[in-house]
Amino acid sequence: MSEKLWQGRFSEKTDRIVEAFTSSIQIDRRLYTYDIQGSMAHCKMLAKVGIISKADARVLIQGLEKIRQEIAAGRFQFDDALEDIHMHIEARLGEIAGPVAEKLHTARSRNDQIALDVRMYLRHETSHIIEQLHGLLSLIVGVARKNLDVIMPGYTHLQRAQPVLLAHHLMAYYEMFSRDMLRLDNCLSRINVMPLGAAALAGTTYPIDRAYTATLLRFDTVAANSIDAVSDRDFIMEFLADASIAMVHFSRLSEELILWSSAEFDFVEFPDAFATGSSIMPQKKNPDVAELVRGKTGAVIGCLTALLTMMKSLPLAYNRDMQEDKKVLFDAVDTLAACIEVYSAMLPKLHFNQEKMQQAAAAGYLDATDMADYLVSRGMSFRQAHRLVGEAVSFAMSRKKELHALSLDELQAFSPLIRREIFSKLSIRQMVDRRECEGGTATGTVKNAIATAEKKLNHMKAHLPDFHFENNPEAMP
Ligand code: ARG
Repeated sequence: MSEKLWQGRFSEKTDRIVEAFTSSIQIDRRLYTYDIQGSMAHCKMLAKVGIISKADARVLIQGLEKIRQEIAAGRFQFDDALEDIHMHIEARLGEIAGPVAEKLHTARSRNDQIALDVRMYLRHETSHIIEQLHGLLSLIVGVARKNLDVIMPGYTHLQRAQPVLLAHHLMAYYEMFSRDMLRLDNCLSRINVMPLGAAALAGTTYPIDRAYTATLLRFDTVAANSIDAVSDRDFIMEFLADASIAMVHFSRLSEELILWSSAEFDFVEFPDAFATGSSIMPQKKNPDVAELVRGKTGAVIGCLTALLTMMKSLPLAYNRDMQEDKKVLFDAVDTLAACIEVYSAMLPKLHFNQEKMQQAAAAGYLDATDMADYLVSRGMSFRQAHRLVGEAVSFAMSRKKELHALSLDELQAFSPLIRREIFSKLSIRQMVDRRECEGGTATGTVKNAIATAEKKLNHMKAHLPDFHFENNPEAMP
């Protein structure tokens, strides 16, 4: 089986070490179904324009379908000597269909073929990840709605800052992950470009019909420049950048949940089914899922860095360096999909400790800004109010009291503008609900944000990209 398809000009056999070193089959075998779909469409196009006969095309397509079934069933023999998935399929086709198999590669090169396979693979995976993110977003909105009345301390510099709704905090992640989803959706338009017909780099002398192949394979557009078609890996870089940003979002969520589940915070409890124990300390319940997601973020960023570095300074057009793109792409796709999956299962089962969050929001002078705002409403300038409240905080600290626990007399000693009404202004609920500006944490505002998000998600549901499509050899000529 291992006579090389490019053996013609060589007089010496490839060294075994070189075969093992250059072979990519262990990685790119994953592309087999796209490679076969692409070849079937290519055959159909060749027959349509009369480059091969319809009878030949039929034989080739039947053979390709047989190979697809063999690989799917695990009955296919892979061999390092055959380099990559394209060579494997073509060589096997020769065994099944005989000499006619040698017509398949007319008007095509592995350079445009691999670009096609990866684009078909990636549009499929990207649409799957978009669907997964859509599901995760719906879950986030659900958890936010369920916890609409839970107040927690909002943080800056990891210091308690101002009270916010837990739902508002969660909806920040809704915004982050919905940007990820839209970025990927946008990236799809650059992925979904049909490179076949570029051949090695210059195009081909045959009267091919690229638009027809594109239609068969459900591509929106045909690559406009043959050199670019075989050199371009921007769509992979873009995907990896989008995946890295999404992972950074997951790492931030993970870090927060890890902190919040510590005894020091005690804001959240992981469900038992999503935590692990210690082999030595019987009392431990560890947030390993969140930790692993946080850790895997580094690996995905590494994939992006590896590809950018690999592509940097590469001359046009195809270079074998580019074979290395698949390993990092597959790793990143698998990791991101697994992280979305595990978070989607875990998120609705997190238990938020409402009492602890509320207690934490009530202590630590989170009402200082609101006291300053109150003084402004009574006619003082904000800077003066800021200074004065700072002094009041320092005084309260020396008495080991919260601001709202000072007496009216004590407060009025700082400014005669202060009236009894200040105490209601400093209740946490009031502080939250007064922040009614667009995008603020007031209950009504967050409720609206949730309703808007639900509407958007519902609308999007009907418009999710879908690149699942079956091989249909019967529909071929
Ligand atoms: N296995 C190659 C890759 O993944 C396919 C293209 C090979 N082309 C070539 N001229 N050697 O990039």
